[in-house]
Amino acid sequence: MSVRNEQAHEARAADDAAPRFSAEELVQTASDVLHRLGAPRQTADVVAASLVLSNLVGHDSHGIVRLIQYSELVKGGQVRPDGQPTVVSARGAVATVDGGWGFGQPAAQLATQLATESASAHGISAVSISSCNHIGRLGEYVATIAEAGQMGMAFCNSGPIVAPFGGAGRVMGTNPFAWSAPLRDDFVALDFATSKVAEGKIKIAVAEGRTLPPGLIVDSVGRPSVDPADLYGGGALLAFGEHKGSGMSMLIELTAALVSGMGSSCDPEYQGGNGTLIMALDIAAFVDMERYYEQAATFCTEAKRIGGGPEHLDILLPGELEARTLEARRAGGVVVAANIRRQITVLADEFGLDLGRFALR
Ligand SMILES: NC(=O)c1ccc[n+]([C@@H]2O[C@H](COP(=O)([O-])OP(=O)(O)OC[C@H]3O[C@@H](n4cnc5c(N)ncnc54)[C@H](O)[C@@H]3O)[C@@H](O)[C@H]2O)c1
Repeated sequence: MSVRNEQAHEARAADDAAPRFSAEELVQTASDVLHRLGAPRQTADVVAASLVLSNLVGHDSHGIVRLIQYSELVKGGQVRPDGQPTVVSARGAVATVDGGWGFGQPAAQLATQLATESASAHGISAVSISSCNHIGRLGEYVATIAEAGQMGMAFCNSGPIVAPFGGAGRVMGTNPFAWSAPLRDDFVALDFATSKVAEGKIKIAVAEGRTLPPGLIVDSVGRPSVDPADLYGGGALLAFGEHKGSGMSMLIELTAALVSGMGSSCDPEYQGGNGTLIMALDIAAFVDMERYYEQAATFCTEAKRIGGGPEHLDILLPGELEARTLEARRAGGVVVAANIRRQITVLADEFGLDLGRFALR
């Protein structure tokens, strides 16, 4: 979403009479639901805070809407709500974490902590996560690494739904990639799925009877399609950037999916979830940190100053949109779509859980 669109969106939302929820209210709501799903309270709090952070930075697709999917995964046995991550091995700059098929966020947070500690000791580090469910928004983990004054990288595979460039059929996952660099009092963080759009957006187009803009999906024989139903008739999503995004997604399969031991998305033995690799680079092990900060500031100032594009949009650094949205939503609260509140209310009703003013029937 462009900054103009984002501002228009926030303004529209402000005009609505829709209630706004504070981060604390949403975390409490999500934690209560997760706890009733079987997560120990501490795990429920960690997962809830991670989901709500996605709402706060503007990635509602990875926010508390995921409670609905997670409840299905718990009921289906994919997520063991009390499963805890453990460190399987730690040797020099390399560590492996087993997610225990619990919620993915605690496993990714543990791997992130190990990665920063290990990079401080060795200059560089890599931590894989196996038996790992959905870790949510990867930007969270590379931001933590950047806040420790290091560069972070995180990527993972996911369920097969993306066709390789020029092909038909689902081979790769939406395979997100995140990469951060610290600034003196801030950081930049790029974080995106390698598919052109999330599958959820195609689902919404089906529900609303809309056709798609060209270039998002192919049908079951690899023909470009604007009919969202074609995705569910054996079609596939396309990667962003044609051969470039497709190639990047393939490398994520070969790296995160295989190094974690989870298997590639199209491997018959792949059991779902995010085969994950998190890496950190301690800049101070390579160059003088002060010099790095000065040069980074000069570059960022120059990049933002240059301007002059045809639409005269603000030039944003990676992660800046999320930082602006975080500030706005921390101050003004988060609007949760009515249909999501209704579905979470239905879920809470199963446990006789009263969601107070969040509930919508
Ligand atoms: N765990 C999983 O299985 C999984 C799978 C797919 C995606 N995800 C997550 O989904 C989230 C959303 O992914 P997405 O592909 O929809 O993200 P997106 O297309 O919204 O891109 C977000 C990135 O682009 C940057 N950006 C956005 N607008 C910009 C602008 N105008 N100028 C400069 N930079 C700009 C943002 O700062 C951010 O780094 C990510 O957090 C990703 O990690 C997770």
